[in-house]
Amino acid sequence: MSKRIYKNIKQLIQVRPGSIAYVAGKDMKRLPCINNAWLLTKDGIIIDYGEMADYPTVHVEEVIDCTNRLILPTWCDSHTHIVYAGDRESEFVDKINGFTYEEIANRGGGILNSAQRLQETSTEQLYEQSCLRVEEMIQMGTGAIEIKSGYGLTAESEIKMLRVIKKIKDNFPIEVKATFLGAHAIPSDFKNNKAGYLDMLIKDVLPQIAEEQLADYVDIFCEKGYFSVNDTEKLLSASLEYGLIPKIHVNQFNAIGGIQTGVKYQALSVDHLEELNDEDIVSLKDSKTMPVALPGCSFFLGIPYTPARRIIDADLPLALASDYNPGSSPSGNMNLVVSLACIKMKMTPEEAINAATINAAYAMGVGNKLGSISKGKKASFIITKSINSYASIPYSYGANHIHKIVIN
Ligand code: NIG
Ligand code: FE
Repeated sequence: MSKRIYKNIKQLIQVRPGSIAYVAGKDMKRLPCINNAWLLTKDGIIIDYGEMADYPTVHVEEVIDCTNRLILPTWCDSHTHIVYAGDRESEFVDKINGFTYEEIANRGGGILNSAQRLQETSTEQLYEQSCLRVEEMIQMGTGAIEIKSGYGLTAESEIKMLRVIKKIKDNFPIEVKATFLGAHAIPSDFKNNKAGYLDMLIKDVLPQIAEEQLADYVDIFCEKGYFSVNDTEKLLSASLEYGLIPKIHVNQFNAIGGIQTGVKYQALSVDHLEELNDEDIVSLKDSKTMPVALPGCSFFLGIPYTPARRIIDADLPLALASDYNPGSSPSGNMNLVVSLACIKMKMTPEEAINAATINAAYAMGVGNKLGSISKGKKASFIITKSINSYASIPYSYGANHIHKIVIN
């Protein structure tokens, strides 16, 4: 039994009843806070909170003074590919020299390059490299991470990736969700036989994933040159039989109708959305599917940003994630993601913080445990340095405003 109280908190941010699943439209502009607050936790769970004027008389093991500091829930990163081998720094230079993402992929770089590296890397080495990324993300304030497979591209290597994700889940105190993204690219062995590759994923890999309980979600890169809307239908309907809920890559370079398919199969989220038409927005209304923007990817690749204003002004919710991966977003810094959302996508600090906490928790299925300061949720939060207000987080882009991270 260990009780802790945090007192004199300049501002306790994102305080809500635990029953709120996500915020949409105009509600995203509201970020509920308590000024000059206290927060009581017991065995890693939030028990109570209030204003210093009502400071409770309670026996605790530890009192932590937070004068001049803000407390907010840890970030939830609902879309990452952090289990990968090596890096793609040489492609980074190719990109500087004028090659596009597509051109690099067509020259044998891109996802297939990462797949080859991963296939040649042992499970132990892959785990070690991935752990460094997880540790770094936690230090930057992330308390939940969704991790995708998709750099294996053979039955064996996809399973290897998912086992590494499971090991991360077992060995870190943060929430981890695993997503099967075997349909990330068409491997060279199946170059002219995409249908054969999809069949292999469905017939050979899905049953093994179910047997070992290696994934929570299923993903597919629904994009011209990768997988079509028909392929998406096929994979999502097969995955449903194994209880895998979709969270899919759609509308990164082209709007080809993947959002409609995601909504039809009750996807938890549809991610990227850099290219979005009016029908896409209409199809998201009356759904429980969370749109997810990945501004780090837009920044790194120099592609358009997800039109956040059109999405939020249409009364929809929006979540933010890092997309941490070696090719299109080699950073897991959610503080910077929140900055980019404000600076490049014209989201207010309130909208961006809501998008990276409560809505992000929903987008990865951990909203019952994380995403807000609520009684009964996990005591996982960021204690800031002495900063002026929560707007300093996006405003002072690239700065480290974190004093301490508390996980459970
Ligand atoms: O989310 N678009 C597909 N997948 C990743 C990029 C993967 C890579 O380039 O390695 C993304 O951007
Ligand atoms: Fe991605």
